[in-house]
This record gives sequence, C-alpha cells and structure tokens, in this order.
Amino acid sequence: MVLTGAGISAESGIKTFRDSGGLWENHRVEDVASPEGWHHDQQLVLNFYNERRKQLLECKPNRAHFALAELENKFDVTIITQNVDDLHERGGSTNIIHLHGELLKARSSVDENLIYDCSQDILEGDKCEKGSQLRPHIVWFGEAVPLMETAVPIVQCAEIFIVVGTSLVVYPAAGLVNYTRYEIPKWLVDPNDMPLPRVPHLKFINEKATIGVDYLVNLLLKES
Ligand code: OAD
Repeated sequence: MVLTGAGISAESGIKTFRDSGGLWENHRVEDVASPEGWHHDQQLVLNFYNERRKQLLECKPNRAHFALAELENKFDVTIITQNVDDLHERGGSTNIIHLHGELLKARSSVDENLIYDCSQDILEGDKCEKGSQLRPHIVWFGEAVPLMETAVPIVQCAEIFIVVGTSLVVYPAAGLVNYTRYEIPKWLVDPNDMPLPRVPHLKFINEKATIGVDYLVNLLLKES
C-alpha cells in the first residue's frame, strides 16, 4: 500500500502546496478550495482549477511513478493518493484511489454521483444533465472524503506501507498511517526533514521521490 502526496509529482513540474513557492503561498485555501469559496466566487475557483488542469496536461510521470508501477510485477499494490493529477495512471499503476478527487473530471454541483471526464476548461454556464453548474471533481476543505471508507480497510490489511511526498498534515488522509498493523514494515520517502509519524518499524528515506522510490522499489523487488 502506497500513500502519496504532492511531493511525488514535484519532479514532474507540479507544485506542492506547502513547500516554499507552493500553491498555498499565492492562493488562499478558503477562496479556491472550500464550498464557501465556491459560493462566493465560482469564476475564481474555476480559473484556479482550469489553470491547474492546463499545467497537468503538459506534465509527464517521473521515475517515481514508473517505479511504483513496476512494483506490480511482484506485489499486489494499491496506491492511495491525495493527488488530483493522473500521473500514477500514466505511469502505469492500475489500482489507484484518488482520495481528494481528480482534476480531469468535472461533477454536478447538485448530485455528486454525476461525474464527467473533463480535459478542457470548465466554464460558467457548463451544466450537468440535471441543469446545475459543473464544478471541479475535487474534495474541498470542509467536505467529506467518501473514499476513506474504501481506503481504511486496505491499509488495515497492508503488509508493506509506503508513504511518499506528503506533509501528513491534512486529515483524514494523514490519519491512514495509524491504521497500519504494528508489525509491518513502513517506509517514508521525503527530501525534507519532517516530524515522522509515531508508528513502529518506520524507516525514513530522506531523498527526493525519483531517487528514494526507485531505491526502495529495487530493494523490495530484490527481496521478494
Ligand atoms: P504538501 O505540499 O503539504 O506536502 C508536500 C510534501 O512533499 C512535503 O513533505 C515535501 O517535503 C515533499 N516533497 C517536496 N518535493 C519532493 C520530492 N521531489 N520528492 C518527494 N517529496 C517531496 O502536499 P500534500 O501532503 O500532498 O488537498 O498535501 C495534502 C493535501 O493538502 C492536498 O491533497 C491538497 C492540499 O491542500 C486539497 O486540495 C483538498
């Protein structure tokens, strides 16, 4: 089981949120990533995600995404990602849970089950089949994270737990670490020093994702 965050896509050219120069330095979370922000100024929110979507289409998966896909040759891998990009998919991974939604999808603002593929801008006036404005298919702050129900049992059964490129400050995703079984090996890959989660058998690989994940995947494939 692999939990990923913005850091795994950083070397593909996608900004993280909380690093210096990160997205939340120039945008207020409440303005662009909350239901209140959406009600206050839909255009601002649409512009923010339209810009993200355009950038994503110019980016490519990096060595870390590809390495995780290679793990599937020997392991039954589930990737639980907080990322809204599709770089794990393009890297070749097949079993991916997008806890915080997907940038390349739009959804109805009245019926969360109406979800559409979307690689273009979402414009004011674009509507779902029920006639309501389309919004980005993103879980905003203050909204429920429905896929946690799917994620928790997978973490509880995991035999190896890997965390890559997340500051582990956003809940409930960050809390997934606490559902791991005591005895299993756990690995965390991040180039920055950070407060490590207090779970047993955790090893810290203090490297960027492209180096750290590649190293770890080779190790696991060799050992298996
Ligand atoms: P953050 O920006 O909070 O954290 C990024 C992490 O990636 C940090 O720990 C960095 O040290 C690390 N990092 C930076 N460069 C890296 C590299 N090359 N390789 C590996 N790691 C690197 O991003 P997240 O933890 O993903 O939610 O943020 C969690 C959630 O907060 C996001 O999903 C988003 C955000 O607000 C929503 O928008 C709902």
